[in-house]
Amino acid sequence: MAKRRIGILTGGGDCPGLNPAIRGAVLHSSAHGAESIGIRNGWKGLIESDARVLRLNDVAEIVVKGGTILGTSRTNPYKKENGPAHVMSTMKKLKLDALIVMGGEDTLGVASKLFEEHKAPVIGVPKTMDNDLSATEYTFGFDTAVTVATDAAERLRDTGRSHGRIMVLEVMGRHAGWVALFTGIAAAADYVCLPERPVDVKDMAAKLKAAYARNGTALVVASEAITLPGVHAHHKEIDDFGHEILKERGVAERLSEAIHKETGVETRAAVIGHIQRGGPPTIFDRILGTRAGVKASELALLGHFGYMVALKADKIVPVSLKEATADLKTVNLEWLDLLDTLTSALAGETNRRVKALKTGV
Ligand code: F6P
Repeated sequence: MAKRRIGILTGGGDCPGLNPAIRGAVLHSSAHGAESIGIRNGWKGLIESDARVLRLNDVAEIVVKGGTILGTSRTNPYKKENGPAHVMSTMKKLKLDALIVMGGEDTLGVASKLFEEHKAPVIGVPKTMDNDLSATEYTFGFDTAVTVATDAAERLRDTGRSHGRIMVLEVMGRHAGWVALFTGIAAAADYVCLPERPVDVKDMAAKLKAAYARNGTALVVASEAITLPGVHAHHKEIDDFGHEILKERGVAERLSEAIHKETGVETRAAVIGHIQRGGPPTIFDRILGTRAGVKASELALLGHFGYMVALKADKIVPVSLKEATADLKTVNLEWLDLLDTLTSALAGETNRRVKALKTGV
């Protein structure tokens, strides 16, 4: 009997943890007598029929490596002429019994549509440093991004303290502020600006002045997609999935001008950009990626298609791709309250936004 053939592709922005996930899927398939076919550069590879067999040597040690050995792209087959038909015919030509799709909301959205409309034998693996997929508790890539960003924030604080400056760190996270939130908490930031709510410049200035008076420096962590009242991006470019391309990173620069104006304290900004998406995955991301890849291969070999593997209560479980791609996970009120409690206390204020403590457990 011919060996079963499982295709694997990685689409959208890369992130640490993809290589462990690829490895997990390839090793699991191999242990069950199946062959893995690596598709190059996401959906583009399936449109252009660009693929190769993945052998043990290709994946044996990639658990320690950032990026993706398969390459990636933001190609949307639904934006190409006969794109979905090309994808389906390439899958047939490559004799794929199943396709493991590793991606964020956009890449997995395509997988979901192909499953609904063409019965494509797909399984999704969630990846994104943004951690904004609602069906899973964490996505791999996030922990590494936050670890790198936290290191950067601590370095900024050192130089800020030496010069008596306020320092602003801009991090990624297109529509969701998870990276900024976790970095801010982990690096003891005095203020955190998130895309989930417009920046309250007066509130920020009051907290930074208090922190500066206490400590001789202050640290702000800001997400790249924040709304700063009165400031608009210079130009808008849209990608294949209809998202604004945030090439013009540098909201931190405008934020630091506003801070200087309001506080009178010399302020400097730094943008960490793609640095937070590279480098070796943290142990958490290596393990999560491996588990997700293994489970995806298991579902593929069982013929359970149309699912995404998700982390729920420390188990890797299947959830329908449709459900998994329906809503984006953004920072909720509970987290905002926690953040406001920390930054208010650091500034010697009470948290005006939290009304009363609830009794009971
Ligand atoms: O979606 C992941 C992400 O890193 C976002 O946080 C960021 O806005 C975007 O990708 C950057 O995309 P690119 O690598 O295309 O500049």
